[in-house]
Amino acid sequence: MSKDVLWWQSGVIYQVYPRSFQDSNGDGVGDLKGITSRLDYLQWLGIKAVWVSPIYPSPMADFGYDISDYGDIHPLFGTMQDFEELLEGIHRRNMKLILDLVPNHTSDKHPWFLESRSSRDNPKRDWYIWKDRKPDGSLPNNWLAAFGGSAWEWDEATQQYYYHAFLKEQPDLNWRNKDVQTAMFAMMRFWLDKGVDGFRIDVMWHMIKDALFRDNPVNPEYQPHMATYDQLLPIYSSDQPEVHTIVREMRELLDEYPERMMIGEIYLPIHKLVVYYGTDNKGAHLPFNFMLLTLAWDPKRIAAAINEYEASLPRGGWPNWVLGNHDQPRVVSRIGASQARVAAMLLLTLRGTPTIYYGDELGMRDVAIPPDKMMDPQGLNMPDKNLSRDPARTPMQWDNSEYSGFSLVSPWLPVDRTADRVNVRVQHSDPSSMLILYRRLIHFREQNPVFITGSYIPVFADHQVIAYLRREEGHPEFLVVLNLSHRPCYFRMAGRSLYGTIVLSTTPALEQTTIRDTLTLSGDEGVIITLQS
Ligand code: GLC
Repeated sequence: MSKDVLWWQSGVIYQVYPRSFQDSNGDGVGDLKGITSRLDYLQWLGIKAVWVSPIYPSPMADFGYDISDYGDIHPLFGTMQDFEELLEGIHRRNMKLILDLVPNHTSDKHPWFLESRSSRDNPKRDWYIWKDRKPDGSLPNNWLAAFGGSAWEWDEATQQYYYHAFLKEQPDLNWRNKDVQTAMFAMMRFWLDKGVDGFRIDVMWHMIKDALFRDNPVNPEYQPHMATYDQLLPIYSSDQPEVHTIVREMRELLDEYPERMMIGEIYLPIHKLVVYYGTDNKGAHLPFNFMLLTLAWDPKRIAAAINEYEASLPRGGWPNWVLGNHDQPRVVSRIGASQARVAAMLLLTLRGTPTIYYGDELGMRDVAIPPDKMMDPQGLNMPDKNLSRDPARTPMQWDNSEYSGFSLVSPWLPVDRTADRVNVRVQHSDPSSMLILYRRLIHFREQNPVFITGSYIPVFADHQVIAYLRREEGHPEFLVVLNLSHRPCYFRMAGRSLYGTIVLSTTPALEQTTIRDTLTLSGDEGVIITLQS
C-alpha cells in the first residue's frame, strides 16, 4: 500500500462502550482491565483503532458524557495505571487508541462550573454561558435541550440562567472565552503526551453558539414522535461559522504530534458536514459520516447519497462510514439480521474509513429494557417517545454463560435473551456467522488495497440493488453488487460484459463461482467479484 496512506485511512475503527464491553471486577459494569483482556479478540478481528467512549470521572448523569475531571480516570473504570496498561497493550499489538473528548460541556459537578456558579464576579463566571432573564421575566431565548425541555436552567443563587444543550447537569462551556480554550487544549496535550493516538470530539458542531443568541425558527417538518428538540431548527445554537476556528486550532495542536487524528461527531447534511474538513483539510480528519445510520434503507437513496458525499468531499478529504453507535438503534434492529450482513459488506467495501460499533460484528440487536430498568436520560425525559438509547448499549455477548461472559454478576443493563446463540464463542467456529463475515471482509479489505486507495465508481442502483466498482491502476478491478431487498434479482452490466469470479459473499457457498453476463442473487445477498478484462 502507498506509504502516504495513514493508519486512520487504511484501518478499521471499532467503538467500545466501556460500561458494556467487559467487566473485570465483578461490579456489573465494564472497565479498562476488561477491555485490555479482550484486545486479542479485536486484533484477531482485524481492528486497527479502538475508540473508547468517555472513561473520565463523571457523576454519570449521561453515562460519562458529563465529565467532572478531564485529566483522570473514573474509579468505576479503573486507575490511571489501568489506562496506561490498556494503551500499552493496544500499541504492542500495533493498534491505536482514540479517546472520546467532550469539550462542548462539562458536568455541573466539574470544579470549573462550581466556581462559575458561585458568584457573578467569579473569574470563571464567563467560562459558561450565563444570561439574564428577559425584562418580562421570560427565558433568554427559545432554545431547546436535546434531552427535552428548555436549554436554560435558572440559578437561584446568582439570579441568572445557564445554557445546556443536553441535560441541565451538562452546562455548555463558553468557547468564545480564551481561558476555556487554553484549559481544554492543555487537557488534549495531557493525553497526547501519554501517547493517545486521537480524539473523537463529542458534538463538535455545537461548540460555538450565535453571538446574538437569536431565537431558533420553528421546524415545519416536526412530527409528534420526534424528540421535542426537533420542534425547532437549531440554526443559531449549532454549526456556527466560528466553530471552524476552534476546530482548526485543535488540529494545529494535534499536528504538533506525529500521526495523530481527530474525528468530529457531527449530525448535519452532507454539504454542511464536509465544511468540517476545514480549509486546506486543516480541520477534522474524519467528520463522522452518519448517512448509513440516518437514511432509509433504500438502494436508490443510498446510492444517490454516496454519490453526493463523494462529490462533496474537498480535495484530499478522506471519506468515512458509520453503521452504528451508542446513540442510535443497532443496525440489526433497523434493517433486520439478513440485511445487516449486506450492510457489513457495504460498510467495508465503500471508499473510506469504516467504524464498527461493538457487538454489531455479531449481529447483536436492540434489547428491550423493562421501564423500571431504564437508565438513559434521553429515554427517561421523554417517556412516551421510545427514545431510550439503552437497547443499543447492552453487554457484549462473549459466550453462552449466564451473563454472556461479560460479567459474573447481573450487569447494569440486561443481556439479550438471544446471547446463547449470538455470541463470540459460537460464531467463532461457524464459517457462516456474522462474526466470520466481518472478519473476512476486514481482512479482505486489508489484503486488497484497491478497497482503500482505489476509486469508487457507481455502476447501478434500482429499488433492489446497488452496484459499484473499486478500481485502481495496476490492480485487479472489483465489482460489488448488493441486494438490499429480500427478493431475488438479476444483475447485468450495462454497456459492458460481466465476466469474473465471486471472491467473497454474504453467502459463502457462492464463492469461487464464475459469473458470465448475468449475476443471479437471492434476497439479502451481496457479492464481491473480481473482474477479468
Ligand atoms: C454525543 C454523545 C451522546 C451524548 C451527547 C451529549 O451525542 O454521543 O451519547 O449523550 O453527546 O454529550
